[in-house]
Amino acid sequence: MPHTGALHEAMKFETLAVHAGRRPETATGSVAPPLYLSTTFERDPQMMPLGGHTYIRESNPMQTILEDALAPLEGGAGALVFASGMAAGVALLQTLPAGAHVLMPDDAYYGWRVAAQEFLPQWGLTSSFCPMDDLDAVRRALTPATRLVFVESPSNPLLRISDIAAIAEATRASGARTVVDNTFATPALQRPLDLGADIALHSVTKYFGGHSDVQGGALVFRRRDETFEKAAHIRHILGAVLAPFNAWLVLRGLRSLAVRVAAHSAHALAVARALERHPAVSRVNYPGLPSHPGHAVAVRQMSGFGGMMSFHVKAGREAAIAAVGKAKLFVRATSLGAVESLIEHRATSEGAGSTTPQDLIRLSIGLEHPDDLIADLEQALC
Ligand SMILES: Cc1ncc(COP(=O)(O)O)c(C=O)c1O
Repeated sequence: MPHTGALHEAMKFETLAVHAGRRPETATGSVAPPLYLSTTFERDPQMMPLGGHTYIRESNPMQTILEDALAPLEGGAGALVFASGMAAGVALLQTLPAGAHVLMPDDAYYGWRVAAQEFLPQWGLTSSFCPMDDLDAVRRALTPATRLVFVESPSNPLLRISDIAAIAEATRASGARTVVDNTFATPALQRPLDLGADIALHSVTKYFGGHSDVQGGALVFRRRDETFEKAAHIRHILGAVLAPFNAWLVLRGLRSLAVRVAAHSAHALAVARALERHPAVSRVNYPGLPSHPGHAVAVRQMSGFGGMMSFHVKAGREAAIAAVGKAKLFVRATSLGAVESLIEHRATSEGAGSTTPQDLIRLSIGLEHPDDLIADLEQALC
């Protein structure tokens, strides 16, 4: 049996991450969760499903095990997992009626921006962008047609901080819902539903998986309401289902989420402080630094500042690209949230249409010793 809600509420996050959704494997006594790969499920003579499932795309045991573990981590009433983070967000967008307006951060993950510009119009939805770290701008941008406000805090790649509680309150007052892309922070550091948001969204490809070897996405809902049911139906019919082995890998990853994120955060703070002192760097975007304009809000709504940061190279684009090229320990690759540190010239990774400053380098700080990471950046920047 999964743990009860009351027990979950009494547990510290570290304990919850290890035990949430665990169930005894009575058939074998296996402590590690089983991996069920079956695409189809047997029925009894009356055609009733023997184990509650019928076909993998509708529901399957791995999906259920992972969702039972994820929902309590975000303090939600229910979770839905998807084939990718994008698929999770798109399913949510597809729950909206034609004519609805979606408000997005002007510094959203570029996938959301491309989706809003290229696909929302085809689905009869409208969207607009505003600086989510400016509450007055958010209030002005809400329209009577707004049904969903997308928040990303910290944002990708500028690490801007939005006041989740204040935005959720303004959004609720206007009759819309707030979804927070919590991929950078993870529930180990920030729980948007506790701050008043309706839905937390994750690319579990990142910190939940934690090892650069699995793709997936998740929505965690405050209530198992109509939107939850619609998103589940969209996944069932349209098919953005998480593969069973991927669910197993994410489940394995989330058991160590708390300790990994604590280490990522400590290492990132050390790297951010060193970069801030570096003469070749004009600005460091890391919410843990008192110089960050969103630091006070971050202190209020986060219990740590995470492993992601970006910084601007004084000498501009070519110098930034040259520094990325000289990295020896940092791996030149996109994505984030895994054990190895990654470095990228973000505008190049995003490609045509990128709005990211050309002098910006994005770092995902891994689990290496921060002194080694700092030494690598120092040699790369000289
Ligand atoms: C903040 C954020 N949200 C969503 C996504 C999309 O996730 P996925 O690549 O799993 O579709 C990403 C991917 O990089 C991301 O960084």
